[in-house]
Amino acid sequence: RHDVLTTIVVFGASGDLAKKKTYPALFHLFQQGLLPKRTSIIGYARTQMERPNFLERVTSYFKEDPESPDVQRFLGICAYVSGKYDVDADFQRLRGEIDSNEQAMGKRDSAEERVHIYYLALPPSVFVTVGDQVRRNVYDGTCTNRVVIEKPFGHDLESSRVLSREIGELFDEDEIYRIDHYLGKEMVKNILALRFANVFYEAVWNRHYISNVQITFKEPFGTEGRGGYFDEFGIIRDVMQNHLLQVLSIVAMHQPKSLRSEDIRDRKTEVLRRILPIQLEDTLLGQYVGTRDGSKPGYKDDDTVPKDSMTATFAQCVLHVDNDRWRGVPWVMKAGKALDEAKMTIRIQFRDMPNALFPKLARNELVLQVSPKESVYIKTIVKEPGLSTNLAMSELDLSYHKRYQDLKIPDAYATLILDVLNGDHSNFVRSDELDEAWRIFTPLLHQIESEQVVPLPYEYGSRGPKGVDEFATERAGYKLSAG
Ligand code: BG6
Repeated sequence: RHDVLTTIVVFGASGDLAKKKTYPALFHLFQQGLLPKRTSIIGYARTQMERPNFLERVTSYFKEDPESPDVQRFLGICAYVSGKYDVDADFQRLRGEIDSNEQAMGKRDSAEERVHIYYLALPPSVFVTVGDQVRRNVYDGTCTNRVVIEKPFGHDLESSRVLSREIGELFDEDEIYRIDHYLGKEMVKNILALRFANVFYEAVWNRHYISNVQITFKEPFGTEGRGGYFDEFGIIRDVMQNHLLQVLSIVAMHQPKSLRSEDIRDRKTEVLRRILPIQLEDTLLGQYVGTRDGSKPGYKDDDTVPKDSMTATFAQCVLHVDNDRWRGVPWVMKAGKALDEAKMTIRIQFRDMPNALFPKLARNELVLQVSPKESVYIKTIVKEPGLSTNLAMSELDLSYHKRYQDLKIPDAYATLILDVLNGDHSNFVRSDELDEAWRIFTPLLHQIESEQVVPLPYEYGSRGPKGVDEFATERAGYKLSAG
């Protein structure tokens, strides 16, 4: 793999995603020696910029000093082309640049193994325009082509299908890599190993032993500065329909036949098909307001948000997986902006012990903490140490930062770009998965919009709208942990 002549084109190279995620991830891979020896990276965007300005922009989010030898060597493989997104001649120039870079890297002949990666760090409104230009003016049928795109993939089931069809007319499904960056997170990637490399989890991984599952995403900051984007989407489309549902599908799926990407994606899609559309009665919506002391603004205080916006910045909903493994087990998803902490957890709560030997203390739980600090712990009952015969709640605790010295967990984007370089689709969303994800959420989203459901207010920095714990406990029919 290391010898493959590789070209990576980053469209939208002067934008935020490229600056904050794509280029730092590419640099990380370069520094680790994980980019093929002959790689060239071409940034493409509309902004007219001299190369030094571009390079300065590109390095602005690097942790490394821009003058360091590693950064300088990396910049040596970076080029910039400015052009419009709908002008043939501009894309023909890009093709020229790719060809001349390949020659400069020592292209042998047309039979040599070559890869072209088109990373669209762009708003979806131009995906098809750019894809079409690439297909007509840049695409080289003599090499392997991979196209990387990122959400939002549509707005609902129908618009997502239109987008999928249009992109599908330009590229084959196995050329397309739909990023959901949660699939590149260490703890999310760990779910497969945890579930299928240990004998004891799979035995209890069903409705007979598991009472409920809670998938929680909390951010301590609001949408300041992104209000324009966010108001069009809301929290359900922003993180639930994609990141949280992807996590759910890996926790809920049956064992794949193998670790090959299509086997994994088949299993995920299969379980998504069994999820019933979410009901409005099983959903609680919230929108944050400013703090009483005025130190933090409310959602609608943002100039880019309409004053009468009813967009939810918080949502909690209960999902049901209608198959023999999970029937009757509530899956509680909760996500919110401007809450009291930064945390993403998957909490699997087990049933009560079916004997009366000991008084009930609390339930066992397996918790996977995705962020901020990766950890896995099992809430376990033990005898209180010493002469006492009482029970105590304790934890079997695998905190990665304590267990692994010099722990350096790469950013999700670095692992995902490496997967693209390796042609591994396991951690990318297939079009049928995407379709199912929208099927589950679309009726709810349409109902919220048509009935103009008003989100409940909650104060910036709080735990969410009043009654959030009671709501989940009532809908799920069990006492949940307050997370
Ligand atoms: C993005 C959402 O997809 O994920 C953001 O658009 C959210 O609103 C972000 O903040 C969270 O990602 P992470 O990696 O910071 O947990």
